[in-house]
Amino acid sequence: MMKFITVKTYEELSKKAASIIASQVILKPNCVLGLATGSSPVGTYKNLIKWCADGDLDFSAVRSINLDEYIGLDGTHEQSYRYFMNDNLFNHVNIDKANTYVPSGIATDLDAECKAYDARVEAFGGIDLQLLGIGLDGHIGFNEPCDEFVKGTNVVELDESTIEANARFFDSADEVPKKAITLGMGAIMQAKAVLLIANGEKKREIVEKAFFGPITPMVPASILQLHPNVTVIFSEN
Ligand code: GLP
Repeated sequence: MMKFITVKTYEELSKKAASIIASQVILKPNCVLGLATGSSPVGTYKNLIKWCADGDLDFSAVRSINLDEYIGLDGTHEQSYRYFMNDNLFNHVNIDKANTYVPSGIATDLDAECKAYDARVEAFGGIDLQLLGIGLDGHIGFNEPCDEFVKGTNVVELDESTIEANARFFDSADEVPKKAITLGMGAIMQAKAVLLIANGEKKREIVEKAFFGPITPMVPASILQLHPNVTVIFSEN
């Protein structure tokens, strides 16, 4: 079943998304959260940080699995997704960093890293709640449009449009890594619940395509139409 919620502002979106994550943590303190990077979840994470600081939320037993990482960036690089997660969430809540997982972008054997990442998710018994943003080309994690849905964690070439969209975080587009390692569709589709957030008019068209258009690997997020428990929150700004 899909719940599609439209709100006016990014603040409302962030509060609703954080409430859904918070209720998951309250219901199952040792839950496995699938977490995302990008600008969309920043406000959501701010709310979680506040509620944790207020003593209303306890992350001490939570495990987290992040979606993706750039190839070639180690966790100390400011644009790495490990750095982003530490900076935007983990450093500010009482989660045990040893329980937070982000794929390694500097593994010498990337194939082994992909397999180990999937084995980790499996050992956890899957993801309880998967938070997702959506790229302008419909990517989730870094699963870019392609001819087929990829099941396992995999290494992908980033689309030109993704490199351009993410260039705003780097000094120039040339510095954006050309490849990334991403959780595949298998772990995402096996998550017990999925929460996708998208904000702003620029995302309206792709959100409509993904959730109301044909299910096709050319719009990777469209596969979520087949997921039994998806909540989409779209805000107009
Ligand atoms: C990035 C990430 C995605 C994210 C998407 C949208 O490249 N790999 O996980 O959902 O692009 O980003 P934003 O939220 O900044 O629009």
